[in-house]
Amino acid sequence: MFDILPRHLYSVAPFGAVPAAAPQATAQTNVSRKADVLVPIRSLGENHRARIARHLKALDVHDRYFRFGFAANDEQIDRYVNGLNFERDEIFGIYNRNLVLIAVAHLAYAPDTGANPSAEFGVSVLAQARGRLYGTRLFERAMMHARNVGVNRLYVHVLSENAAMLRIARHAGSTFVCDGAETEGHLTLPPATLNCHLTELVEEQLAQANYQIKLQARQLRHTLSNLQSAWGGTDGAEKSD
Ligand SMILES: CC(C)(COP(=O)(O)OP(=O)(O)OC[C@H]1O[C@@H](n2cnc3c(N)ncnc32)[C@H](O)[C@@H]1OP(=O)(O)O)[C@@H](O)C(=O)NCCC(=O)NCCS
Repeated sequence: MFDILPRHLYSVAPFGAVPAAAPQATAQTNVSRKADVLVPIRSLGENHRARIARHLKALDVHDRYFRFGFAANDEQIDRYVNGLNFERDEIFGIYNRNLVLIAVAHLAYAPDTGANPSAEFGVSVLAQARGRLYGTRLFERAMMHARNVGVNRLYVHVLSENAAMLRIARHAGSTFVCDGAETEGHLTLPPATLNCHLTELVEEQLAQANYQIKLQARQLRHTLSNLQSAWGGTDGAEKSD
């Protein structure tokens, strides 16, 4: 089962190809420097709410502190998840082959958009799935989506000790203002191009297809496991997640 897709499986240029005429102050493209594979990132809807909660509750106290700026307990996570507005904001996720949500990003739009629409980015990756650039890829995807819906400024609030998140945002060209323990980063996004729209469309389709394949593979594993049990042999039977 593929968890990642080679870039050559789709024909449009990788995201990040900012036109040459783009202003200097806009997002740098070097966030894609290891862009030889496409991680299947899909947009999540209402029916993923419980899994998002499960994902966040799997974070330890330290990670919760980094993610929310305070060590959120399970009740506070439930409140946050119940308050997610899938109509207004965008939530992205990465599922592993067992359909465990291993990474989640939240792109929250600022309410008072005005002439300079902005959004804020928050992300978490399960400890066992870190260091595979999932955080970086989610940031890229959020940048792409934000551009496509006309957002021109992306904010990220990072605790100053959060080296991994600072690296992700810095690689993308964010500018930071440090205020004690907290650092606020912002990134000016260039306007969307046709390529940017097409890339997101293709990536979303591939991620949806990838999810369906994983779903069917899991159902097949369950069926085989049940058949195996019915026939009396339990050796090698796979546990469901
Ligand atoms: C921050 C977080 C999302 C990073 O996820 P990830 O998938 O492991 O990140 P990536 O693999 O894309 O790595 C990003 C960069 O950080 C670096 N990095 C990863 N872990 C690091 C660590 N513990 N210390 C220093 N740098 C680290 C990577 O080497 C990479 O840098 P590079 O591209 O220059 O090589 C993840 O650690 C996490 O979920 N933390 C808890 C929640 C949180 O902090 N959220 C961010 C606040 S919004």
